[in-house]
Amino acid sequence: MNKEKRDITILAIGDKADYDSYRKWHHAKASFLDHGFDYATTDYTRLLDGKMPRIKTENVIIFLFFPFSYWDSHIEHKNYRGIYANRVFYRKFVRFWDMVESRLKKQLAGKKVVFVNDPRLCGAYRDKLTVTRKLDEFRIPQSRLYNVSGVEEIRDKLSGGHEFFIKPRYGSMGKGITFLSRSGWQTNFIFKNNKIISRRSDHGWRFNDVTGKTGFLRQLLRDDFLIQKAVDPLILDGNKVDFRIYTFFNKVIYVYPRKNASGKVTTNISQGGQGDSGLLEILPGSLVSRAEKEAVRVSKALNINFAGIDIMPDKNLKDLYVLDVNVFSGLPGKKTFDLAECVAGELSKKGRVLFS
Ligand SMILES: Nc1ncnc2c1ncn2[C@@H]1O[C@H](COP(=O)(O)OP(=O)(O)O)[C@@H](O)[C@H]1O
Ligand SMILES: [Mg+2]
Repeated sequence: MNKEKRDITILAIGDKADYDSYRKWHHAKASFLDHGFDYATTDYTRLLDGKMPRIKTENVIIFLFFPFSYWDSHIEHKNYRGIYANRVFYRKFVRFWDMVESRLKKQLAGKKVVFVNDPRLCGAYRDKLTVTRKLDEFRIPQSRLYNVSGVEEIRDKLSGGHEFFIKPRYGSMGKGITFLSRSGWQTNFIFKNNKIISRRSDHGWRFNDVTGKTGFLRQLLRDDFLIQKAVDPLILDGNKVDFRIYTFFNKVIYVYPRKNASGKVTTNISQGGQGDSGLLEILPGSLVSRAEKEAVRVSKALNINFAGIDIMPDKNLKDLYVLDVNVFSGLPGKKTFDLAECVAGELSKKGRVLFS
């Protein structure tokens, strides 16, 4: 153990209800202590109440996890009856991060603070359009977005052989995704009595057939949705495949190929996709390393130091598309890859440089 380095505290802020990242991160304390850091953790409720764990060091590195409890009680709360992930969600989310930032500034006044991901960016990047525009500035390959005039234009394009994904502009976890092709329309919203209904849970957003239901499409287009050209995905052994790439301070720390049966719409683990590290042995190394390079460019373009970036190769193994950037990505299980340990190791190499 390198005692000399115990002049930096790692502060992790998250909610225990966050089973897919903060809870998996929870054992990280031992790793950080082993690498010579101090470690503290708290949740957002306490933070917003003005409470803060005692921090002995002058230097603090802050990891922000998804504010699960706040989200469930104030944003996607159980009495919410509107459509999933509209502008109201976003505004509340941005306001939340403003509060977090000002609380932290106040509580940690006089200390040197490094945010792994800046709280304001945590709010701003909930907007998929903000992310897309930023990545466009850096010429990062993405599937193109369409600005359509209405349902008729979509129908025309579909009969011309185009295929689309329509997703909530401020959404996540594969919730509220619609896929349109000439052979059928599928959505994981519920469409009942001519009304779009959002499920209450995070998981189990099953897809339903809404082929030809113009009323559904018309309602979607009235809200904040992005229409994107569908990538013709690479299919291996009957599965569509993409990469979840974890970056930490502009370095790839883990690549997690994901797969789902070719007939399924999404590859999100939260909606039934599966991680499969074995695919790395089958996929061409050059494809993987190109995807890794793009992921690093993404994290630089967006100025985020800890991210899960989703990149899909197309079926000719030639083109790659950055589909989604997750500031709050779910973490692999510890047995699959001990990401917290890896991050602690990385920080022990460069943690002090952050304060120099
Ligand atoms: N343009 C696209 N082409 C092919 N598949 C897509 C496209 N957009 C989304 N998907 C699939 O849908 C999933 C969810 O979309 P994504 O943009 O990542 O939204 P979310 O933030 O809800 O995860 C992706 O992981 C991918 O499997
Ligand atoms: Mg995604």
